[in-house]
Amino acid sequence: MKVLAINSSPNKDKGNTALILNPFLEGMKEAGADVELLYTSDLKINPCMGDHACQFRTQGICIQDDDMKWVLPKIIWAEIWIWATPVYGSGVTGPMKTLIDRMLPMANAMIEVRNGRLRHPPLTKGKSKKVVLISTCGFPEMETFDPMLVHIKDKCANTNAEFSGALLRPAGPAMASMLKNGAPVKDIFDAARETGLQLIYDGKISEKYLKIISRPIISKEAIMEIVNRNVQEK
Ligand SMILES: Cc1cc2nc3c(=O)[nH]c(=O)nc-3n(C[C@H](O)[C@H](O)[C@H](O)COP(=O)(O)O)c2cc1C
Repeated sequence: MKVLAINSSPNKDKGNTALILNPFLEGMKEAGADVELLYTSDLKINPCMGDHACQFRTQGICIQDDDMKWVLPKIIWAEIWIWATPVYGSGVTGPMKTLIDRMLPMANAMIEVRNGRLRHPPLTKGKSKKVVLISTCGFPEMETFDPMLVHIKDKCANTNAEFSGALLRPAGPAMASMLKNGAPVKDIFDAARETGLQLIYDGKISEKYLKIISRPIISKEAIMEIVNRNVQEK
């Protein structure tokens, strides 16, 4: 099973997003998946120029000469995509959005009705896809992820990919400092690993583990107090 994971945190493997992503990928590898991990901060991917040349003139080839030349074939041929991103400004990071936009060469310019909505049929071949979203954010409320979930689910529907679930960790920075201070948060990373195993063995992820990953670890009042105190001390 070919898996392509893309982490768009500029903090790469030192970030809060990696704390959830990495055990998840370990679980997948343990179950026998062939996993490749890329960081957007290592890639030079320019914004889409919006000329639709890939759809109307060059049959699925973007005219820009940057890293998307070799990343797009990996996206096309992977069977599972893992989109890992911190919440930035209520959505995915800029580099993740740029990468998603640059997937336009995969879409035929024609349109068809799919599940009651007008969508583009895939232009490129590749295999059928499953998509997992992995995200962390600063605030403790799960609603913080709502705009991103709507976005990624709709992108899946447009790409004809199956949305297999989301590993969502609110209060990401609080989780990281609790881990550093020896607080009992290990169950979160164990659950992330379990979901990786599950996705490969069973083809799906159970709610039970997703709930553990998102479980409350700190109250709103405590976050407010810690953050405001830190800001005042600086
Ligand atoms: C530019 C920027 C925008 C952010 N926007 C939000 C936001 O809208 N909501 C939120 O809860 N956290 C926000 N955060 C906090 C990050 O999502 C959070 O710290 C995350 O865990 C960082 O992940 P990382 O360590 O993998 O980079 C923002 C952080 C930055 C730097």
